[in-house]
Amino acid sequence: MSDAHPEPLQLPLPYPVYCRAGVRQRIGEIAQLAAPSHRVAVISDTTVARLHADAITAQFPADRTHLFTIPPGEQEKTRARWAELTDALLEWGAGRDTTVVAVGGGVIGDLAGFVASTFMRGLPVVQVPTTLLAMVDASVGGKTAVDTPFGKNLVGAFHNPSAVVIDPEVLVTLPDDVLRSGMAEMIKHGVIADAPYFDAVLQFADAVRDRGASAPNFAATITTLITGSVRIKADVVAEDTREGGLRQILNFGHTIAHAVERVLNFELLHGDAVAMGMVAEARIAESIGLAREGLSLAIADAVTRAGLPSRLPTGISLDDIVAATHGDKKARGGAARYSLPRGIGEMEAAEGKWSVAVSDDAVKSAL
Ligand SMILES: NC(=O)c1ccc[n+]([C@@H]2O[C@H](COP(=O)([O-])OP(=O)(O)OC[C@H]3O[C@@H](n4cnc5c(N)ncnc54)[C@H](O)[C@@H]3O)[C@@H](O)[C@H]2O)c1
Ligand SMILES: [Zn+2]
Repeated sequence: MSDAHPEPLQLPLPYPVYCRAGVRQRIGEIAQLAAPSHRVAVISDTTVARLHADAITAQFPADRTHLFTIPPGEQEKTRARWAELTDALLEWGAGRDTTVVAVGGGVIGDLAGFVASTFMRGLPVVQVPTTLLAMVDASVGGKTAVDTPFGKNLVGAFHNPSAVVIDPEVLVTLPDDVLRSGMAEMIKHGVIADAPYFDAVLQFADAVRDRGASAPNFAATITTLITGSVRIKADVVAEDTREGGLRQILNFGHTIAHAVERVLNFELLHGDAVAMGMVAEARIAESIGLAREGLSLAIADAVTRAGLPSRLPTGISLDDIVAATHGDKKARGGAARYSLPRGIGEMEAAEGKWSVAVSDDAVKSAL
């Protein structure tokens, strides 16, 4: 690798996003430029720490750097872990002179981001996503949160990172099902904004799934795909930082996905829920005459190619799902709202609201 400072992507965001194979070896220098500080608190989970975060921590001065870890998993994204981490930071002597470096999947990104947003009223955070989902979705946009017994992500803050560093090489250690989960969000990005991107994800779905065994030059392919997804998400969040309108389109597939997750007590992967949610919501869009016929089939084909489920789990009660959609964060006045596509790459604007209320009966008959 050259000695020149790595180039960030050209994006409409107030912070640089780097996406390139090998760039994780330059995080020390990127952080020093984007968020110069005396101390560095690296936050990770124990799995990622062992595989990747140790090498990143070693890029900072040893006497002023500390690696804080929590066990892996969504069940750790809690206020209790937030309190534990902030206490550990205080005990270590972290102050306003500290930069947080979040190394991990979306759980670490959200939790460490929330720690950074609240610690002494706000520390800079450098996001280093290590799952495909965190690379294409969670690390960009500035949302941070923890879960509560009442629901996911209910306590949090908007806190933009100082920089995002995406190194697709770390994906080689990712378990297959976690990799697949990220592909659901990539397909979603294609549907909500960009038909050629949708086709590209479809074309390279096999290569992503087998991490290049079936196609040479995996690093270049996956880097291009991740960059495409980041660009789509960046365009959306740049236009609507606080989810007043356009940002709703990122919720395509998610009204049903969140309901399925709730009904199944979160015992399935988020990407699997999003995959079935996208197919179901495309069917709803067709049945109320919003989307062109064939859309749900095209999306079902794409999620299948990615190894994701296209149908709701057998035996699940539609009444339970519909009831659970009313507990969705987007629910207003008892009506479940959906961000629906008209076609691949084209969402229903709904007069700037970017979501429409659909009656429970219409949902049930569509599903
Ligand atoms: N802030 C946002 O805008 C946003 C957007 C989407 C999702 N999210 C959040 O992201 C979370 C889900 O993120 P996730 O799917 O990345 O899950 P995760 O962070 O739990 O990671 C999944 C698993 O992969 C392991 N792992 C991570 N990187 C690895 C690597 N390179 N090699 C081997 N193992 C690795 C982790 O240890 C963990 O066990 C949810 O909490 C969700 O709410 C946030
Ligand atoms: Zn999602």
